[in-house]
Amino acid sequence: MKKITVVGAGNVGATTAQRLAEKHLTEEIILIDIIEGTPQGKALDIWESSPVELFDTKVHGTNSYSDTANSDMVIITAGLPRKPGMSRDDLLAANVKIVKEVTQNVADNSPQAILIIVSNPLDVMSYVALKVSGFEKNRVIGMAGILDTARFRLFVAEALNVSVNDVSAMVLGGHGDSMVPLTKYTTVSGIPIIELLPEDTIIKLINRARKGGAEIVNYLKTGSAFYAPSSAVVEMADAIIKNRNRILPCSVWLEGEYGINGVFCGVPVKLGSNGIEQIIQLNLSSKELEALKNSAEDVRRNIRKLNF
Ligand code: NAI
Ligand code: 2OP
Repeated sequence: MKKITVVGAGNVGATTAQRLAEKHLTEEIILIDIIEGTPQGKALDIWESSPVELFDTKVHGTNSYSDTANSDMVIITAGLPRKPGMSRDDLLAANVKIVKEVTQNVADNSPQAILIIVSNPLDVMSYVALKVSGFEKNRVIGMAGILDTARFRLFVAEALNVSVNDVSAMVLGGHGDSMVPLTKYTTVSGIPIIELLPEDTIIKLINRARKGGAEIVNYLKTGSAFYAPSSAVVEMADAIIKNRNRILPCSVWLEGEYGINGVFCGVPVKLGSNGIEQIIQLNLSSKELEALKNSAEDVRRNIRKLNF
């Protein structure tokens, strides 16, 4: 991949640009924001680390979409973050305007790009990006499930005092309080966690993962998480750029899969060079399926608040 644009040079955007550069994932990164000077300054600062970090990626900052033209991938992080006491849904009205405007500019300048959406409320903003861009559904992908799953994996590893490397998990559903961590698919080196931890501990870990975003907001007070979110975005970018066909939970447009239609929701997908190569259908228990459908309905209720 030659050119990746990151829209929004705030905490998530700038850290994403840095991680992309340090992982040598592209020849050029463009960081764009509405604030004059911020993307230019942060991009140059990242680029100036290249002789020490040893990457050849060029990193440029701009306020003009013409500089982003013909990007192969565009990562949209523009928008307000949460403050303590706010839910992700409280960001809807402000961020829908931003994501609409950004997506129109992106689609006009980079019509072939794969879009990764980060702005919150994530599943609704992914819908906005799909509709405004008019791109095929395999090219508009929301980032949330990898982050929610990473949090859950860490909490399980910490509870068992084992390496995070050995913990596999899958958190599905919308990126909100109704997200659905799947106990059945949570294993430590193949051993189901129900054989390793008592049920009440597992429930506590699930609840902590569900509230993982708010936990960080309550510490930071002026913004939300960005180190783990940017890692999650870059894992998606890496899977696509290197055509790895990774199976990862992402927010995607569903058309009947899991009995859910016409809404973005987090499910396992195969990520490769075309973006979403396949939606993976798991054999969920009736309780898990009901929780997934309820979570998707929460997203749908928010989509209905939009005027398009
Ligand atoms: P931030 O406030 O640090 O950065 C946001 C940036 O967007 C600012 O630099 C701002 O100037 C820029 N911006 C605003 N309007 C713009 C426009 N029209 N065009 C270009 N840039 C514009 O916020 P942060 O922490 O980087 O978070 C960004 C968004 O990502 C928030 O909505 C946040 O809730 C969301 N988020 C989502 C996660 C997920 O799991 N999906 C994880 C972390 C954050
Ligand atoms: C999070 O979960 C802010 O949605 C973001 O940290």
